[in-house]
Amino acid sequence: MGLVTTKEMFQKAYEGGYAIGAFNVNNMEIVQGIADAAIELNSPIILQVSAGARKYAKHNYLVKLVEAVLAEAPDLPVALHLDHGADFEICKSCIDGGFTSVMIDGSHHDFETNIELTKKVVEYAHERGVVVEAELGRLAGIEDAVNVSDADAAYTQPDEVEEFVTRTGVDSLAIAIGTSHGAYKFKPGTNPQLRFDILAEIEKRIPKFPIVLHGASSVPQEFVKIINEHGGALKDAIGVPEEQLRQAARSAVCKINIDSDLRLGMTAGIREVMWTKPEAFDPREYLTVGRANVKTVVMHKIKDVLGSEGKA
Ligand code: G3H
Ligand code: 13P
Ligand code: ZN
Repeated sequence: MGLVTTKEMFQKAYEGGYAIGAFNVNNMEIVQGIADAAIELNSPIILQVSAGARKYAKHNYLVKLVEAVLAEAPDLPVALHLDHGADFEICKSCIDGGFTSVMIDGSHHDFETNIELTKKVVEYAHERGVVVEAELGRLAGIEDAVNVSDADAAYTQPDEVEEFVTRTGVDSLAIAIGTSHGAYKFKPGTNPQLRFDILAEIEKRIPKFPIVLHGASSVPQEFVKIINEHGGALKDAIGVPEEQLRQAARSAVCKINIDSDLRLGMTAGIREVMWTKPEAFDPREYLTVGRANVKTVVMHKIKDVLGSEGKA
């Protein structure tokens, strides 16, 4: 089996009350850490690539790294997805270049422009057997090539979703219900609470339609501690409580995006080795620990948060 789209994954996840993890990949060690966990737990996965990742590692290297997962586990359902495609051109380039899924992020445009742009990508993608994710509403924080200040952040309006998915023909929809990108999602001392009331409203308007949650890292405090105890300076890094992600995974949310937690795991591993063994200069030494942490993060997500263990 080659790389697959997310169609069947989402249908099964919706019916089974679990979610598929969409993990950002930027290099070989991250791909391997995620793949090792998914293979061990027999879980479907989405490996996603941002514009920044394509710039850093190059399109062809990332495609080949992701395809290599299938050489290790030919029957594992693996989708290769473009994260936060900013325009038609980057989506086209990924559709033509071996991706099975793309996101067109028109969330910073007005409603009509978002529809037009999304529709254009959907037409091009569907003719080539590729699926499309779009976004309605805006997340706080920094999206790839899109700066959205806290003040601009707007929850998804349930009134708009039915018209948006009908007119665009899109396959899944990212919504804004209180998550944000990065490691600093909430103010210290506050009580983070996702807007499940908005999610329930959206589910009512578009029943059985796969919903996507961006900005869903939990910012594991054990990694923050290791980083800070080994020369790092991450102050007040706070993520989404895992119990709320579990609740989301049981609902219409079929795809949960995680990047920051992988970065924290990788950084904690590298910092620990660099700090405790200043004489080390073999990259394999510190990258081995970083990669093992990535695997630990993904094992935990699949087993204890997403519920996708054994669903491959
Ligand atoms: O949503 C953003 C992802 O975490 C990707 O981040 O643009 O720095 O690769 P990046
Ligand atoms: P985090 O920064 O919470 O990991 O979100 C990642 C994401 O949404 C990628 O699109
Ligand atoms: Zn995102």
